[in-house]
Amino acid sequence: MGSAANSSVTCDPNDVIVTNDLWKTYIMGEQEVHALRGVNLRIQRNEYTAIMGPSGSGKSTLMNLIGCLDSPTQGSYCLNGHDVSRLTDDELARIRNKEIGFVFQTFNLLARASALHNVELPLIYNGTPAAERIERAKFVLESVGLGSRMDHKPNEMSGGQRQRVAIARALVNSPSIILADEPTGNLDSKTSIEIMNLFEELHRQGNTIVLVTHEPDIAEHANRVVTIRDGVIASDKPSHKLVPATATH
Ligand SMILES: Nc1ncnc2c1ncn2[C@@H]1O[C@H](COP(=O)(O)OP(=O)(O)OP(=O)(O)O)[C@@H](O)[C@H]1O
Ligand SMILES: [Mg+2]
Repeated sequence: MGSAANSSVTCDPNDVIVTNDLWKTYIMGEQEVHALRGVNLRIQRNEYTAIMGPSGSGKSTLMNLIGCLDSPTQGSYCLNGHDVSRLTDDELARIRNKEIGFVFQTFNLLARASALHNVELPLIYNGTPAAERIERAKFVLESVGLGSRMDHKPNEMSGGQRQRVAIARALVNSPSIILADEPTGNLDSKTSIEIMNLFEELHRQGNTIVLVTHEPDIAEHANRVVTIRDGVIASDKPSHKLVPATATH
């Protein structure tokens, strides 16, 4: 019995992400926090989108919904042409593992496990046989330039290397989308550039990337910049990167 609003949802397979009037309300005792208040966002395959906005505006909440880590309070969400807003937690977990690669500000690696084992983890969850797991984990670690650090644990690596392990882990299932929530938030500027070069390379290879950042110079690496304010999209523009440099005087 979908509501009128939900029955009009079009899940176009050319769009990787389509959100229709997405709301997320957190209940805190007596208080309701409307973290998202009707977000309509459409992202096509191989777009590179930066999401900006003040602290508390709803960026991470939106990323969690797009990444199937959470369900909306209201509205609908089509991922790769399928409406996923009404799925159970188990179904969401399965889709997340297959379609989404997540990269977090704090890396979220297992401290006691080697880089290789950290990258293998998503493949353990989906039952990939051991030999194939190791082969694929090695391949993605090499592709992010960590072929010589596979046996290192997170505390035996630099910040940039840790984030590259997290990116390798995000890539190991060949997801259709890479979501990164402030991936350079804990890195110095030189290491941030290294990580942004890696995202650019992934974009060139055909990946769809959505990246949250507070920093305008990081957002400029994307092709499109979406700004969120108070739980709604305040602006949605091509990034400066696409605008040819013009003489100012
Ligand atoms: N689990 C939660 N329970 C209750 N309120 C929450 C929860 N998560 C987020 N919020 C609230 O929802 C709003 C949006 O939070 P969100 O984390 O999406 O912001 P953000 O834009 O990512 O901010 P930042 O830039 O600081 O990371 C905030 O007001 C926050 O306090
Ligand atoms: Mg956040």
